This record gives sequence, structure tokens and C-alpha cells, in this order.
Amino acid sequence: MRIILVGYGVVGKGVTTIIARRYAEKVKGYGFNPKIVAIADIDGAVINPRGLSPQKLEEIKQRGYPISKDPDFGRPGIPALDVIESVEAEVVVEVTPVNIKNAEPALSHITKAFKTGKHVVTTNKGPLALAMPALTELAEYNNVYLRFSGTVGGGTPMLEFAKRCLAGDRILAIRGILNGTTNYILTEMSQNGVGFQEALANAQKLGYAEREPSMDIDGCDTACKVVILSNWIMNQKITLKDVDRTGIRNVSLEALDEAAKRGNTIKLIGSIDEGKPTVKPTEIPKNHPLCVSGVLNAITFSTEYAAEQTLIGRGAGGIETASAVLRDLLDIRHKLANRMLNNNSES
Ligand code: HSE
Repeated sequence: MRIILVGYGVVGKGVTTIIARRYAEKVKGYGFNPKIVAIADIDGAVINPRGLSPQKLEEIKQRGYPISKDPDFGRPGIPALDVIESVEAEVVVEVTPVNIKNAEPALSHITKAFKTGKHVVTTNKGPLALAMPALTELAEYNNVYLRFSGTVGGGTPMLEFAKRCLAGDRILAIRGILNGTTNYILTEMSQNGVGFQEALANAQKLGYAEREPSMDIDGCDTACKVVILSNWIMNQKITLKDVDRTGIRNVSLEALDEAAKRGNTIKLIGSIDEGKPTVKPTEIPKNHPLCVSGVLNAITFSTEYAAEQTLIGRGAGGIETASAVLRDLLDIRHKLANRMLNNNSES
């Protein structure tokens, strides 16, 4: 499987690390032979149609920016769109930074990949939050797959759990702590009496917060994830503007103290209940499985037969999110193998 990696931030680097490591190990056992044939970033690209070796991937990582100054395969100035169009590959892995104003440049990268017959794995919430119904249709039209497991829950397989493990049951409602930064802030405030601004500064130092902190604290990041859950799991066709959203700016230390007296705490909850997508600070019992601390994420699926199922895990981090990319690549590999089998049995 030839891969074009677009974006070389913390997740992009995680993807090259995992592919280089796993190449020699388990992945080969799946009959899966991933090769990164190009990495595109804002300064240009590194391209080797035969695949960048694990040693070369490590060299690029050690050298740092700009990646296009690689003496063997560097292509300074070549735009990512040209790389996607001109380099032969089966899959584009799109991991550029999130933009919820117009989803660019990721939206153009993804549509270019579809139009040139390439499958897409992305961890970028922007295009999905703003245009998921259109993107899934475009993927189907071009007969390619779009996978985005790392957009919700980071490395924790929340989307797969709902889609695969709960298949056959009916999911009636979803409630989750889907943003690590706000969970960290609320935990620091409630458990250690730290003020909002100080807790936010600490979260930024830990590297979990989005570049634009409003994404986290005003609930936009959670709302993007609610859109993805709603469309993928609950078969809705919604975008970001359909989510009723309130962030955590007005959650005070006093309100947290009052909640504590009732055995509760306040969490930023993203939910889909009776089809209604909502993000808002919500009081929940401290002993509910959903009530996780620090940067952890948690999600509870309320189902018709299996009652409540809660999944807890790290919702962010480069290597964690990159593990979701690998999961998606394996899924595509599996789907392509099935397609081949079906074609052979029909012919
Ligand atoms: N800023 C996000 C968070 C990153 O804090 O959870 C993962 O989407």
C-alpha cells in the first residue's frame, strides 16, 4: 500500500514513527506492506516513488523543518495538491491542522485525493465537521474509502466500538467527555482549586490544547466530534452549525464546589439524545463511569439491549492518534482485499 502523508506535525511524525516500527513487526503479519512514498508539508515535499525507508523517515524526523531540504528526495516548493495529483499511491493520509472556518487546506486535499482515485485517512475534524455528508457522497461516487477513526477519541476506538462492537444493537443516546483540554481544566479547578486561566495555561503547556484555545474552551472541538458521531453512528446528516453549543468559560470554582456538595462534578459533555446534538457543561455524579479525570476522554453509549457501555481512553497525543491512522489503513487494506475476492468470484 503506497501512502502519501500530507501534514508533518505531531500526528504526521507519529504516523511515520509507527509505520517505520510496525513495518518490521505485526503489520507484515497482516499481509500489509505500507510504504510512505511522499510526505508533503507547507515548504514542499519529500518524494520517493519506491517508498521512503525507515532510516530515511528517521533522518527526516531528526533533521526537522523544512522537510523539503532532504538531499536525496527533497522537492522544495511543490504544493501538497500537486503531490496528491502526481504521485502514484493508493491512500492519502491527511493530518494537517484543524480549521473550522472553511476546513482548508484539508478539504481541498481530500477532494483532490478522491478525484484522483485515492482513499483517504484523516485525523482532521474540520472537513468532517463542515462537510461530512458531501464528503461521504463524493467518496462513494469516486468508489474510494474515507476513514477518520482518529478524529474522535484519538487512539481510543470510539467510532469502531459503536459501529462494530455494538452492531445489531440500537444506540439510543451518546454522551461523552470528548475533549482532553477542557477535562483537564475542570479537573484542576474542582480537585485542586486552580483558577480557570492558570489551568488553561497548564493545559497548553502539556500540548493537548488546540492552537486556538477557543476551539477547546468554547466547545467547538467537542462539537466537531459530536457531528462526526452523529453522522457516522446515528445516520444523521448534520454539520457544525446544527450543534447547540456552550463552552466552559462560565464554569466557576463556586459552581464546582456546589456540585461537589451534591456528590457531583461539572464536565463538558457532548451528547446526542433523541437526535439532538448538544455540547454543554453538565453536572454528573462523581461515581458515574463517565466521570474521568485529567486529559482522559470517556464515552457512554446507551443501547436498547446492552444498556450502557462506557469506553475510556486518551483522546489526544501524536502517537496515540497515529495508532488510529494505522487502524484505518488496515481497515482499508481489508476492504480492498474483500473487493478483490468478490471481483474474482464474479468473474
Ligand atoms: N484539543 C483536543 C483535546 C485534541 O484537548 O482533546 C484532540 O482532539
